[in-house]
Amino acid sequence: MRTFGVGIIGCGNISEIYFSNTALFKRLKLVACADALHANAEKRAAQFGVKALSVKQLLAREDVDIVVNLTVPNAHYEVSAAALKAGKHVFTEKPLSHTAAKGRALVKLAAEKGLHLASAPDTFLGAGGQLARGLIDDGKIGKPVAGTAFLMAHGPESWHPSPDFFYQPGGGPVLDMGPYYITALVNLLGPVAKVTALTAIGNAFRTISAEGPRKGEKIVPSTPTTAMAILEFAGGANVVATFSWDVWKHGCAPIEIHGTLGSLRLPDPNFYGGHVELSEAGAEWQAMATADETFGKINWPATEPKFANFRVIGIADMAAAIERGEPARASGELALHVLEVLEAILISGEKRKPIVLAKREVRPPRLNHKQGTDLAKS
Ligand SMILES: NC(=O)c1ccc[n+]([C@@H]2O[C@H](COP(=O)([O-])OP(=O)(O)OC[C@H]3O[C@@H](n4cnc5c(N)ncnc54)[C@H](O)[C@@H]3O)[C@@H](O)[C@H]2O)c1
Repeated sequence: MRTFGVGIIGCGNISEIYFSNTALFKRLKLVACADALHANAEKRAAQFGVKALSVKQLLAREDVDIVVNLTVPNAHYEVSAAALKAGKHVFTEKPLSHTAAKGRALVKLAAEKGLHLASAPDTFLGAGGQLARGLIDDGKIGKPVAGTAFLMAHGPESWHPSPDFFYQPGGGPVLDMGPYYITALVNLLGPVAKVTALTAIGNAFRTISAEGPRKGEKIVPSTPTTAMAILEFAGGANVVATFSWDVWKHGCAPIEIHGTLGSLRLPDPNFYGGHVELSEAGAEWQAMATADETFGKINWPATEPKFANFRVIGIADMAAAIERGEPARASGELALHVLEVLEAILISGEKRKPIVLAKREVRPPRLNHKQGTDLAKS
C-alpha cells in the first residue's frame, strides 16, 4: 500500500478537522502546511507537528503528493491550478471554484497533467448517504419521482469570526451549502438535466455576532441569500430545493425522495451519519441508524460528540483510486457538475429563465463496506 504525503494550503477555520482526521485514514501522511497568513500555518504546524512553509515551498516539496486546498472559495482556482502545475494531485474544499468556467479549466488541467482532482463535499461517502443510496439502488422506493431539499438557516455570521466570503459571489447559501445537497442528490438520483429558480437578497446587511475582533461589524451581501429551485434530473425525478440564509425557524427535513413504492428521508448531508428513514407504501417511517457503521460513528465535536464527522474520507478514497488507476468518487467531474447546477440556479434566478445543463455521467460508484474498511485505519 502506497503512502501519500499530504500538504495543506489554507489553515483557517475548517483546517483543524482536516489535520486531525487525516490520522483516521490509511495511505495519508501529513507533511507540511502553508497559508497566505503565515501565522495561521505556524499555529496548525505547532498543533499537529508538521512543517509550516510558504505556498511556493510546499508546492516544491518532493514528499508532497496531494495538496489539500482549504483556502477561501475565491482562491480555490488559483491554488488548485498552481498545485496541479507543480505536479500534485489536488483535493479542494467546495466549491470546486467560484465559477463553473474556472471549474472546467481545473478539470481540463488535471486531465492534461494526468493527475487526480477531487473535491469536497465528501459527506455522501458517509454511512447516511451510502445507506440511502443502497436503498434506492435496491428498489426500496421504486422509481424515484419527486423530492425536496431544504437548507434553511440564518447565516454564518453568528459562528464564523470572519464571514465576508460567505456573502460574496462564490459564497452565499447556494455555493456554500448547496454543494452538500446537490452532491447528495446526484449520489442518489444521478445528474441534473435542467434548472429553474428564483433568487433574492433578504437583509441589506449582516452584523457579525460571532466572538472575535470583528464582532458588531456589518457586511453587505453581494450574492443571493435565498434561492428556490426546481431541479429536473436526467433520470426523470424532479426535486424542489431551497437554499436560504433568511430563515429563522422551520420544520422541513433536509432531503426527502418519494418513489413509486415508498418514501425516503435523509439526514443532514453536511454530516456523515444520522438516521435514514424509509416508508414502504405509506407504512410508518422505519428509522435506520448508522452509528455502528465505520463512517457513521458519533465522533464530533471531540469535547461533546453529537455528529459523525469523517472529513478527509474523500482524500483517502482519492489516494486509493490513484493506487487503482481509477477516478475518485468525489471526483472533479462530479464537483464540476454540482457547480454547474449551482451556478445555473443563480443564473436562472437572475435571468428568470430555465437553464439546460451539459450532459455529464457523474453518479459516483457506491462505497461498499469492504472498500470502506480499506480506507479507515482500524
Ligand atoms: N468553516 C467551516 O465550517 C467550513 C465547513 C466546510 C467547508 N468549508 C470550506 O472551507 C474553505 C475554507 O473555509 P474556512 O472557514 O476555513 O475559511 P477561513 O477564512 O477561516 O480560512 C481560510 C484560510 O485560507 C487562507 N488563504 C486564503 N487565500 C489564500 C491563498 N491564496 N493562498 C494561501 N492561503 C490562503 C487564509 O489566510 C485563511 O487562513 C472554504 O472553501 C469553505 O467553503 C468551511
